[in-house]
Amino acid sequence: MGQPGSLSWQLANERQTEAAGALLADRLAPFTEPLLLGLTGPLGAGKTTLARGLLKALGVSGRIKSPTYTLIEPYETTSGPVHHLDLYRLDHPGELEFLGLTDFLDEPGLVLVEWPAKAPVLMKRLDFEIVLAFSGERRTLRIDGSGKAASHMLASLPASFSA
Ligand SMILES: Nc1ncnc2c1ncn2[C@@H]1O[C@H](COP(=O)(O)OP(=O)(O)OP(=O)(O)O)[C@@H](O)[C@H]1O
Ligand SMILES: [Mg+2]
Repeated sequence: MGQPGSLSWQLANERQTEAAGALLADRLAPFTEPLLLGLTGPLGAGKTTLARGLLKALGVSGRIKSPTYTLIEPYETTSGPVHHLDLYRLDHPGELEFLGLTDFLDEPGLVLVEWPAKAPVLMKRLDFEIVLAFSGERRTLRIDGSGKAASHMLASLPASFSA
């Protein structure tokens, strides 16, 4: 059993991680306010897979690339703009300037950030974190955060996941 208002999802395969992303998309959209979410977990935990499921559910078609090298991929969706960032390769927080964050961070839309700890300035502004972990071959997902967005999210999601 988790804490009251917490969740722990077991994700058996890539398809379930995508389905979890789709469920989150359903609860988060449409984006009427700025929403900044961290996607946390070790290398290969499924962060990009979850982002892909979320974006597909928002109607994004075509190949959804990992922003590993570009650091950022912007999308226009029917629910509003989504920016997907992967800061793993960010060498210095000063490089963030070149990503044009000020153009979208305070606008209605979703910003998903893999490796947010690389940018303390973003880390402290996260509405909540989606935390993926290895569990043998599988993955688990939980939501971390104490703010209003986190509790609202936890209240609207099932404690366990079945895809
Ligand atoms: N629930 C799951 N069970 C088993 N494998 C999974 C699950 N979800 C995703 N995977 C697989 O894990 C691998 C890594 O996924 P992904 O690239 O999304 O990880 P990541 O966290 O974004 O990694 P990185 O830190 O390198 O950006 C992929 O091969 C994907 O298919
Ligand atoms: Mg990734």
